[in-house]
Amino acid sequence: METLLTTDVSQAATLLRKGAVIAIPTETVYGLAANALEAEAVRKVFELKKRPSSDPLIVHVQGLEALEGIVAEIPDWAYKLMMRFWPGPLTLLLPKGPAVPEEVTAGLPRVAVRAPAHPLTQALLQAVPFPLAAPSANPFGGVSPTTPAHVWDYFAGQIPLILDGGPCAAGIESTIIGEENGRLILYRPGAIPRETLEEALGEKLYTRTHVTSTPPVAPGQFLRHYAPRKPLLYGWRTPPPEKNASIVVFQPVPFSHPYLHYLPTAENLADAAAQLYHTLLACEKEPTHYILVQAVSPYGLGEALHDRLRRASLPHVFTIGHSNHPWADFQALLQKYEIHAILDLRKQPYSRYVPHFSQGPLQKALHEVNIAYEWQPNPNRLLPTIEKLLREHLHVALLCAEGDPNRCHRFSLSDTLSEKGFAIFHILPTGELHLHRAPISLSLEEKAS
Ligand code: TXA
Ligand code: MG
Repeated sequence: METLLTTDVSQAATLLRKGAVIAIPTETVYGLAANALEAEAVRKVFELKKRPSSDPLIVHVQGLEALEGIVAEIPDWAYKLMMRFWPGPLTLLLPKGPAVPEEVTAGLPRVAVRAPAHPLTQALLQAVPFPLAAPSANPFGGVSPTTPAHVWDYFAGQIPLILDGGPCAAGIESTIIGEENGRLILYRPGAIPRETLEEALGEKLYTRTHVTSTPPVAPGQFLRHYAPRKPLLYGWRTPPPEKNASIVVFQPVPFSHPYLHYLPTAENLADAAAQLYHTLLACEKEPTHYILVQAVSPYGLGEALHDRLRRASLPHVFTIGHSNHPWADFQALLQKYEIHAILDLRKQPYSRYVPHFSQGPLQKALHEVNIAYEWQPNPNRLLPTIEKLLREHLHVALLCAEGDPNRCHRFSLSDTLSEKGFAIFHILPTGELHLHRAPISLSLEEKAS
């Protein structure tokens, strides 16, 4: 199929009327749009995106007046927000109206609605007699596209038309809110900050953005989501200047690096948000093995950036050997990589040659610098222990005997971890980081493309 890149709204409208799926610009990210009232067209969106049919789509309308039949009622709080923020990057979860097919809402009782602000898509919604169901225009789980070129990279040859609206102004998805038992809940932080909504409503929003159940009772809750096709590690105060990495920072760092991306947040978080996905997609193409991303302070618009980066970050573990490291060197390595917990895998947690690596002294010294320590020689308990530590600490290192990280992999630990979706990084005695194993899911994708 030939893919047309155009600004011609009437061609886009004609294709949509025929039941086709096309890409549309919005002020947040590009969407893959279809007639929201036609189950057959909506099914094509799921197919193209390889999205599970249990994950519902947002219905895009021109404005408040176009909601008849789409939602069953408009509560006061919703009315207030629509008046203030529509058209704009705010999605509301409201009781579903009879016109919306089950496919759109994945059988859920609520429908997500939003009026996008982009002028081309506003003109398009004016030109067709139906609303548009549209998820972000990326394969399921991938980074959302913020330019026509990104959409082209993902879907050229698979859709007939990309409506070219230039780069997206906000660059991060809409904020999603809804009501449960009389409480207003923020399901997905997005382009309109929580604080702005709270001020408009005159009340606090509750938060529910973690995975609870499948199908999702609420949106944006897949923990692995927005992930680039390369392992991404998130949460550094100062990412180490690793040579095999692409590095993304929001505050200046004291080094230069060939693949350093600086998105300053000090004065204007909106510019950093607008550039984030573009930057991650650029990192995917660089000749590096993984991506290191500095932590974002999760306030205002930063809450949405932090949320996406946290979800994009793979679960990963470091391995470190104690070798003959003097204690100070070892501690410096832990500090460099911001290791917050050590899981000791040694069969015997004693070292005849390097006494400070024996369990007692080691545990005491780690305690003093606020690093958790656990000894787990039982192979059957390894995975649950790692998972438990990773829930409590961002970066966990496995301590192996004699400086040989491969000793960590007795019991085929690497196989198990990479099957479970973990990336494994060795901290070499020289202090450098080495990607030992990408998760199986990523390596398969690499082979396929
Ligand atoms: O900014 C945006 O919202 C962009 C642009 C294209 O409008 N769209 C977007 O759509 O981000 P998508 O499908 O990538 O993310 C929408 C989220 C998903 O996590 C989905 O599960 C959730 O909203 N969602 C949609 N309808 C829902 C419903 N009826 N009930 C619960 N969650 C819903
Ligand atoms: Mg999406």
